[in-house]
Amino acid sequence: MARVVVTNRIPTEAVDLLRTEHDVWTWDGDEPMDRATALQRIEGADAILTLLTDTVDDAFLAAAGPQLKVVANVAVGYNNVDVEACERRGIVATNTPGVLTDTTADTAFGLVLMVTRRFGEAERLVRSGRPWAWGMEFMLGTGLQGKTIGIVGPGAIGIATARRARAFGMDVVYSGRSPMEPAAETELGARRVCFDELLATADVVSLHCPLVLHGPDATHHLVDAAALAKMKPTAYLVNSARGPVVDEAALVAALEAGTIAGAGLDVFEEEPTIHPGLLDREDVVLLPHLGSATVETRTAMSVLAAQNALAVLAGRAPENPVTRD
Ligand code: DGY
Repeated sequence: MARVVVTNRIPTEAVDLLRTEHDVWTWDGDEPMDRATALQRIEGADAILTLLTDTVDDAFLAAAGPQLKVVANVAVGYNNVDVEACERRGIVATNTPGVLTDTTADTAFGLVLMVTRRFGEAERLVRSGRPWAWGMEFMLGTGLQGKTIGIVGPGAIGIATARRARAFGMDVVYSGRSPMEPAAETELGARRVCFDELLATADVVSLHCPLVLHGPDATHHLVDAAALAKMKPTAYLVNSARGPVVDEAALVAALEAGTIAGAGLDVFEEEPTIHPGLLDREDVVLLPHLGSATVETRTAMSVLAAQNALAVLAGRAPENPVTRD
């Protein structure tokens, strides 16, 4: 029997699956485990299931010990995992793609609707008790039909978001390191453009790229002051990818200056801290990183992570290994 550590509460289906073969310890506190406790608890683990709130760096791997074989991250994004350090130590790292595609695309398109139709602002108005009355010009939003969505990162979640946009009558342009899967490109009538053209053309810019900190494909602050300046003053920015893809200070300045019309954000640079300049703005919708937050999806993600860990512990190749490339 191997020792498996789960650093956070995850659905019991996944823990039960791990327990069919191994000795499993899971954190059961109401608050996430602090770093010092985590470093103690992972000592001696052969497999660790982590969440995106765990920083899996060299110190974390060293604290676990040389017997550690696999870190199974319960997320599709793995910017919290130092993959190079895992590779150097011969540890397999895995993620959970596929099972959260539709749920995350629902969140992205929910943000599109909320920000363009001012639903967040409207809900706040009703709850505030301030007077309101139906009127021809009362709280008018922006229609989506015939407008263009710009998908940055045409992977599975980007494609699923584009599908939703098509259903609302939008045209699709996209930019990314690789072209969209040809069948999806044809189905969506999507046009690949460079990032600058996307910024200049799209009425909604929706981010679906991974957070890459360094190198030629780096996406840290991809949307900075210069990028925001290229967007239309009537356009909206939606981020359901990772917070640091957007320079939040530059975004606040752009909203303040009317450079763009609004933003819908599910992710933030310093979660759970929110840039104070965003909090009071009516042209911004803020969600607390709910991208994959349904019972069904969180269960599927956790079970997939457990299966990945079990595979490695059994000496098999996991379904979802991640590598530096
Ligand atoms: C992911 O899996 O990367 C999502 O952000 C989790 O909600």
